[in-house]
Amino acid sequence: MVNTLPQSAPKQPKAGVKDPSEETILTPRFYTTDFETAASLDLSAQETELEAMLQEMRADYNRHHFVRDETFEQSWEHIDEEARRSFMEYLERSCISEFSGFLLFKELSRRLKGRNPLLAEMFQLMARDEARHAGFLNKAMGDFKLSLDLAHVTKTRTYTFFPIEWVIYTVYLSEKIGYWRYIIIYRHLQKHPENQFYPIFRYFESWCQDENRHGDIFKALLRSQPQLWKTWKARLWSRFFLLSVFATHTLTVHERSGFYHSLGLDATEFDRQVVCNTNETAGRAFPVMLNTEHPDFFPRLQRCSDYNLKLVEIDCSTQPKFVKLIRKLPLVTAIIWNLLLLYLIKPIDAEALRETVR
Ligand SMILES: [Fe+2]
Ligand SMILES: [Fe+2]
Repeated sequence: MVNTLPQSAPKQPKAGVKDPSEETILTPRFYTTDFETAASLDLSAQETELEAMLQEMRADYNRHHFVRDETFEQSWEHIDEEARRSFMEYLERSCISEFSGFLLFKELSRRLKGRNPLLAEMFQLMARDEARHAGFLNKAMGDFKLSLDLAHVTKTRTYTFFPIEWVIYTVYLSEKIGYWRYIIIYRHLQKHPENQFYPIFRYFESWCQDENRHGDIFKALLRSQPQLWKTWKARLWSRFFLLSVFATHTLTVHERSGFYHSLGLDATEFDRQVVCNTNETAGRAFPVMLNTEHPDFFPRLQRCSDYNLKLVEIDCSTQPKFVKLIRKLPLVTAIIWNLLLLYLIKPIDAEALRETVR
């Protein structure tokens, strides 16, 4: 999948510029939203929290963090072909995902300017962070003579429209799941430095604090809108988004198990840790959490992932398109069926837990 382009290759506009991988249902998406509704959000219920978050964002704790030190100046020939390929996929996916955040925040900031100054500045500062993250990842790809032409990606990717309510749910979850992914890898490598084959992982501790802060901002946005947590509809949507984010994570992690293996991590165990921790964190913002301890929860997710791996296998085969389609149909049905059963597992009432704690 990853090709290093030779300098002399004909018809190639730029050497070392990688075409983004084909978009699939699991690829990080680019979003656009209803900016009018975003501008008119009434934030009064969480104004103090948001003002405090704005101060934190202005303080810019990671101003000097994303600077490449001398540990990057070496040859990476010792990383074997297989580990290198899966690492490139990881970097590319992470870079696209950070860049997608940057574009959305940047556009929100631009459109809200003059209409909702607090949010406009908040989004501008979050865009600043995501641009740093995406740039840092792209430079890492550059060490392997590859990089993404992000300006080109901006123009060619399809943008999915999400109402602002969905943006709040999904960005909240993606920031928090991002936090857990980064910190779990960081803590693991602290215990097993022999698996740290590239210095970028050393940056994950402060990096994930950016994602944590972004998540907290979205938590305040979510809690400022009672219709996002007080109603029965909000409970159904929360379950839906929690499950979508977790299922995407499980499927992606197992598709990329080689990368986690190269870090000395077991993909299944890593996935469980990320899902359980994100679910628990989400209980502080969402009205419900999923019951990850239900005996069917992880086995069903695992089944979806197994079917997905079979789908990938079929896609890689050289069979005619219609044969592939016929072979894929029962697998897709089985994934949807399992997701439906997962959705129907009784969730945990996070609002009731909050009341008890109080
Ligand atoms: Fe980020
Ligand atoms: Fe973020």
